[in-house]
Amino acid sequence: MLSQQAKSEIQQLMTKYPDARSAIMPALHLAQREVGWLPDDVIQEIGDLLGLSKTEVNGVATFYTMYARDQPGRHTIMFCADLPCALRGADEMLEHLEHKLGCRASQTSPDGKITLQEAECLGGCNHAPVMLIDGAEHAQDLTSEKIDEIIERLRNT
Ligand code: FES
Repeated sequence: MLSQQAKSEIQQLMTKYPDARSAIMPALHLAQREVGWLPDDVIQEIGDLLGLSKTEVNGVATFYTMYARDQPGRHTIMFCADLPCALRGADEMLEHLEHKLGCRASQTSPDGKITLQEAECLGGCNHAPVMLIDGAEHAQDLTSEKIDEIIERLRNT
């Protein structure tokens, strides 16, 4: 459910664009910033505010990976799938991580605690393979053992 403030801001967006469809993306950004993800009722609210169907708004929300249509876990892991990391075994580490979490990239572990996303270069190529935890902690020179330790820690916090 969007706050009154967010609803007003979305209505304001309508004055900045030539048509309502152009306001879908900024409205989705605004809603995701407030709610943390984009559940069905929020998609519906955006549609109502913009005078568009839920299907039209959902079409945009599901097309772009930057919009979260599923509730994210308490923690997020961004795993670098770029070439320098791939050359140092990132594919194998990602497979290990997916097995450990019980989910694939772009999904959340069945216990709802950790969301896994693939990412482009995370700026730590000299210590590849690399992943970024909760947008703040770089885990570098990854091994299966390091990944196991990190996952255990995250599951308990
Ligand atoms: S390519 Fe993976 S951190 Fe740069």
